[in-house]
Amino acid sequence: MRSHYCGDLNRHHIGEEINLCGWVHRRRDHGGVIFVDLRDRQGLVQVVFDPDRPEMFRLAEQLRSEYVLQVRGRVRPRPEGTENRELATGEVEVLALALEVLNAADTPPIQLDEYAQDVSEELRLRYRYLDLRRPEMQGRLRTRAHVAGALRRFLDGHGFLDLETPILTKSTPEGARDYLVPSRTHPGRFFALPQSPQLFKQLLMMSGLDRYYQIARCFRDEDLRADRQPEFTQLDIEVSFMTEEGVMGLMETMIRELFGTVLATELPAPFPRITYAEAIRRYGSDRPDLRVPLELVDVADLMQGVDFKVFAGPAKDPAGRVVALRLPRGGELSRKEIDAYTEYVGIYGAKGLAYIKVNQWTAKGRAGLQSPILKFLPDAAVEGIMARTGAEDGDLIFFGADTAKIVNESLGALRVKLGQDRGLGGGDWRPLWVVDFPLFERDGPTGRWMALHHPFTAPQEDQIGLLASDPGACQSRAYDLVINGTEIGGGSIRIHREAVQRQVFELLGISDEAADERFGFLLQALRFGCPPHGGIAFGLDRLVMLMTGAGSIRDVIAFPKTQTAACSLTSAPTPVDPAQLHELALRVRAQP
Ligand code: AMO
Ligand code: AMP
Repeated sequence: MRSHYCGDLNRHHIGEEINLCGWVHRRRDHGGVIFVDLRDRQGLVQVVFDPDRPEMFRLAEQLRSEYVLQVRGRVRPRPEGTENRELATGEVEVLALALEVLNAADTPPIQLDEYAQDVSEELRLRYRYLDLRRPEMQGRLRTRAHVAGALRRFLDGHGFLDLETPILTKSTPEGARDYLVPSRTHPGRFFALPQSPQLFKQLLMMSGLDRYYQIARCFRDEDLRADRQPEFTQLDIEVSFMTEEGVMGLMETMIRELFGTVLATELPAPFPRITYAEAIRRYGSDRPDLRVPLELVDVADLMQGVDFKVFAGPAKDPAGRVVALRLPRGGELSRKEIDAYTEYVGIYGAKGLAYIKVNQWTAKGRAGLQSPILKFLPDAAVEGIMARTGAEDGDLIFFGADTAKIVNESLGALRVKLGQDRGLGGGDWRPLWVVDFPLFERDGPTGRWMALHHPFTAPQEDQIGLLASDPGACQSRAYDLVINGTEIGGGSIRIHREAVQRQVFELLGISDEAADERFGFLLQALRFGCPPHGGIAFGLDRLVMLMTGAGSIRDVIAFPKTQTAACSLTSAPTPVDPAQLHELALRVRAQP
């Protein structure tokens, strides 16, 4: 039906007779001539209908937005002065010789041109098939396909096997709630959809398949955010007989080649590495955005004796933290802006945001500073703060004092926000590996140990003894890849000895009995010659989101879920027929 894509035409096609298929993007009537911008996957081209073919002209007069056309025509240069430099096909137009309307269209409920941005996301998701006609969305999905293709080619070329793992399975703990599927053949029993293929990929290593990958759908019933979906895609990878150096090295090459192929960008080699402890200390976050050139500076030791409880309390508390954050040229911030930042850190639990404006420190010393907390600070503390932050005249220094958790989260977030608002850094790609994570962290409310990654992550070899003596000090063989503040991937070397796996389960409060019930198949497999192995999973959606500059993960998924984990297009989830429930031996409790 088609000889060329609309968007591919250019002056090299001038004089050719061609066949196009596409959608009416816009129709304009101009002094007896009709212009139709015809759109397909590749872009737009202007088609001209001349009145000297009256039958075709009358048909063209009835065309409306989003009608589907087949047009035979001849490519010709646009008359001088009417070229459109904004458009890839802007030097040419197509004189229509024959027109067939393949289908009519109702008036679209969302505009598909430049005004589409004004449309609510709810409407865009309800009419997703129309929203996806927009060039912007098509570009993102195209990049997604290129990314997946480039990753597959790399892994195929390095001897990885693309293997599938079950979707109807047993709970795989990655820290979220499970999606459950009732079994008809086993009444009262449920499958869980996988939160990741973690256990199956480990079993494939135990089977000797050596190098596995899968573009795998994962399901997690958790609170959604701009970069989280309940159903998302991982590039999931596992290898045998490789250390963390080997895995990180190979994955780094893969990501560098990916950015080269898809974005023609050269990422730094090698990616820098920092430890979890250093990331938290300098950036308040284990996924720091290295583009932002601001850092947290510890000042607790300077504040221990000050006459300001808000600072002295956390300064003396081992679980507290007091930091300064210097903002170069921050002196120009207005009172209103500072209040807004104070409100912003409040979201993360901070009870305030003290600051010092450095007006004229060089000339006037202490008298050249302006701050609501200056009166509480002795000279030694002030001098210490100035020296440690390196603040200069015109700067502003923010302070956070609270539990380490609140300070890290609030000032870590403020650091990134200031970077964005003030246009600091930005531009380039700043990947990094975060390593030496603690194996466990304490769950706030219960105080119980929880796996920082997942319970199959190996402790560092020389620290296995700490499992018994000081689990909190035990570091794992995990690594996360972070790019520009987004956690793109995470993985680890796994536990491959049954005794260690049981010990970790026990620390996590999973008794031997419960472990056998939940993970018996894994524990058993570890007894039959399990090779040392490890791997990683990348969030494919997040990677594409980052590479396309999309503001939301929903913009890089063809049919995403809403913020409330529903599908506006199909209205899923929906109630089901009572007969179906009966068959599944289920009854729905009355809704409150
Ligand atoms: P993890 O849970 O860190 O590791 O997931 C790996 C990567 O998947 C992405 N990701 C998500 N993307 C979108 N929506 C979500 N809800 C979501 N959750 C996670 C992130 C993350 O870095 N089995 C381990 C991997 C391993 O150890 O090999 C795992 O799933 O980019
Ligand atoms: P106040 O004594 O409450 O008037 O606070 C004095 C200054 O300290 C104000 O600028 C507050 O925003 C700030 N402040 C209060 N609590 C904290 C905190 N936990 N961390 C940092 N600054 C704080």
